[in-house]
Amino acid sequence: MDSILVKGNGPLKGEIPIAGAKNACLTLMPATLLSEEPLTLTNAPRLSDIATMTQLLQSLGAEVAALQDGLVLALSSHAIDNHRADYDIVRKMRASILVLGPMLARDGHAVVSLPGGCAIGARPVDLHLKALEAMGADLDLRDGYVHAKAPGGRLKGAVFEFPLVSVGATENALLAATLAKGTTVLKNAAREPEIVDLARCLRRMGAQIEGEGSGTITIQGVDRLHGATHPVVTDRIELGTYMLVPAIAGGEVECLGGRLELVGAFAEKLDAAGVSVTETARGLKVSRKNGRVRAVDVTTEPFPGFPTDLQAQMMALLCTAEGTSVLEEKIFENRFMHAPELMRMGARIDVRGGTATVTGVEKLRGAPVMATDLRASVSLILAGLAAEGETVVSRVYHLDRGYERVEEKLSACGARIERIRGN
Ligand code: EPZ
Repeated sequence: MDSILVKGNGPLKGEIPIAGAKNACLTLMPATLLSEEPLTLTNAPRLSDIATMTQLLQSLGAEVAALQDGLVLALSSHAIDNHRADYDIVRKMRASILVLGPMLARDGHAVVSLPGGCAIGARPVDLHLKALEAMGADLDLRDGYVHAKAPGGRLKGAVFEFPLVSVGATENALLAATLAKGTTVLKNAAREPEIVDLARCLRRMGAQIEGEGSGTITIQGVDRLHGATHPVVTDRIELGTYMLVPAIAGGEVECLGGRLELVGAFAEKLDAAGVSVTETARGLKVSRKNGRVRAVDVTTEPFPGFPTDLQAQMMALLCTAEGTSVLEEKIFENRFMHAPELMRMGARIDVRGGTATVTGVEKLRGAPVMATDLRASVSLILAGLAAEGETVVSRVYHLDRGYERVEEKLSACGARIERIRGN
């Protein structure tokens, strides 16, 4: 297994291009199942999770070609000959559940493996199933699979209120409702930019959708969707991660393609911590001049609140802040596994349930640490950029799921970072 070596190297300076969003691309790709005509996604991220979704769609009979060095995905589902999403693929990536709604909407039947457990929380899919049942689906959970049927071969429009905000369940229901008979209204729906991007893509394919981003989405079902070309929205989590580079190590970095409205709540916390964020013609410029950042309190919430996917990275920053910060993780019940690793680097963190109290220290020290999940892995790399000495982060396969070319992007800003190939 590969690991990454980081040597603290003082203030960093440069520009970092931000890729297309993993979490948008993973819900855009299954949209191909809703039409027999080609779907082309541009600005696609080059990540192992995208390769897994490609493998899954190909296992159903879809054609998926990665063009232009992987930046363009050409998808076509004119000949779907298998409606079973197998455990062997689904267990690698929970987002695989997002083929359930589109397959059911397309052909009225599907068999999809349940995703199973996850390091950061139980992560059930009950809301995905309840929304599809509201649209008339018959669901039978058997042998670890969801066996789904749409009576009469077609889902029907429905009004469904999510008891809690779920990004994935909103996406599955939105995808399915585009071909349902009648009107669907999704209430207390997720408002994430990835949902807005999905609605935009579906509208390019001929879907009738209103209200995405508002919390209430109305979809007028149509008989068929056509082909389209759609640019994947910028990855706001990758953006936030790289905005933290100058915040943690000092210096100035311009994140190319970044937009403030994608990271509003996060940028406000950086500002409160004494980090300057300015919009430029090409993106967002972030800098921290002198002295330590100030402690700030953070609570994770659904968009437009502070994203849970930036909580670990923010904790890395607050480890060397002036004062004590309180981080509350409200979305996932087990998302502080980076804390003990940061403590190996000299951080002072007290975790009690969903609350972590971080007392800032002058300086972190490099150490061998272990990645436990995607966002935890990058938080350890960020901490290493500001630590004295060497940090070696192992199990970076987690990182490759959501960050492309980290070493290149950070070295371009003067960081001393290299990948150590494992056997
Ligand atoms: C998406 O996961 C993202 N993944 C996650 O990013 C992100 O952390 C999460 O949204 C929240 O923003 C992708 O888009 C592929 P949820 P998702 O359904 O859809 C509970 C990353 O690092 N829930 O909004 O799985 C659930 O347990 C990943 O890129 C149910 O109870 O998240 C959680 O507590 C990690 N029943 C809460 O809702 C359900 O049926 C929010 O989960 C569904 C969810």
